[in-house]
Amino acid sequence: MNSSSFNLQNKRVLVTGGAGFIGSHTALELQNAGCKVTIIDNLTNSKTTVLDRINELSETTPVFIKTDIRDTEKVTRVMKENDIEDVIHFAGLKAVGESTQIPDEYYDVNFNGTVSLLNAMKEAAVKSLIFSSSATVYGENANPPLTETLAIDVQGISHAYGRSKAMIELMLEDYTRANKDLSVTCLRYFNPVGAHPSGKMGEDPKGLPNNLMPFVSQVAVGKREKLTVFGNDYNTPDGTCLRDYLHVCDLAEGHLAALDYRIKKGKPGLEVFNFGTGKPSSVLEVIKAFEKASGKNIPYDFGDRRPGDVPSTYADPVLAKEKLGWETKYTLDEMCKHSWNWQNDNPDGYPDS
Ligand code: UD1
Repeated sequence: MNSSSFNLQNKRVLVTGGAGFIGSHTALELQNAGCKVTIIDNLTNSKTTVLDRINELSETTPVFIKTDIRDTEKVTRVMKENDIEDVIHFAGLKAVGESTQIPDEYYDVNFNGTVSLLNAMKEAAVKSLIFSSSATVYGENANPPLTETLAIDVQGISHAYGRSKAMIELMLEDYTRANKDLSVTCLRYFNPVGAHPSGKMGEDPKGLPNNLMPFVSQVAVGKREKLTVFGNDYNTPDGTCLRDYLHVCDLAEGHLAALDYRIKKGKPGLEVFNFGTGKPSSVLEVIKAFEKASGKNIPYDFGDRRPGDVPSTYADPVLAKEKLGWETKYTLDEMCKHSWNWQNDNPDGYPDS
């Protein structure tokens, strides 16, 4: 399966947060599949220079409009002017630690932002939404492999980021029940990592990275001295946490599969899919794979456990395979190799415009 396996030619798709890490990789794949892509982004955590890279790697240029999803009027106008048929919604705040400090911002941008987007969709008569959700909605007490049949556990999530995602999913359930012509797909990502194989696009975190892979990349390239591994006394084979890392290009392709499925199925309602590999890796395995991919030594020490971390979480990826015909194909070694290509070629991320 690749972007040309889908029949998405000339589909007019709005990508919110399309300048961000996952949004930009998905926008690129949509472009390559012949879609007419309109990106909106408020650029709080991204730069317009990513658009130059999308242009370089695809044959057509997406429309870009700087706007915030909370600006309902402007977003409605963008939808109408570009004759949008489908929305893929990535825009949002995503730093777990920060969300415990400024929950108001998280609920405003993530939750109110999604309400605003739904209002704009109603105004512009757009009836299809794919929502960027997270495996975090299963809460911290669920036992892996996690299947979509498990309940969303708002009480079992310790941070506003995760709760905002869970609450959005619950809201979308209510909206689809009440609006019989609305189609919503929630995609629950496990741990998206990696970068475009060309090394031209990747993750560009502002300041100190919160997540493992960008931190490891920055240590490898010499921007940071060493990594602290958060806990080595978990009940796992090597004592460090197990996570389900998936390549951002696999993830991007999954969005095209979800869009294609929705169009073919032609039936409204809510559907939920896990997006993961089903194969967990430990923190130490990631470090080792990155050392191999980069040829660099990654110094690390062991620190305390990070609050809110669970010992092990990974997907049951079967439903996405059965219904969407989509599964991941990149290995952990390739995820590390491509992250390294990006980091090594762009040590300071995307240039300022
Ligand atoms: C985190 C979020 C999750 C979110 C996801 C997005 C928490 C508790 N969870 O997932 O809600 O959906 O990011 O990608 O933050 N690690 C280190 N040292 C570091 C950084 C990370 O040892 O400097 C370890 C962590 O303890 C964890 C693993 O690496 O065991 C992966 O961490 P991370 O990349 O932050 O992802 P998650 O915690 O799984």
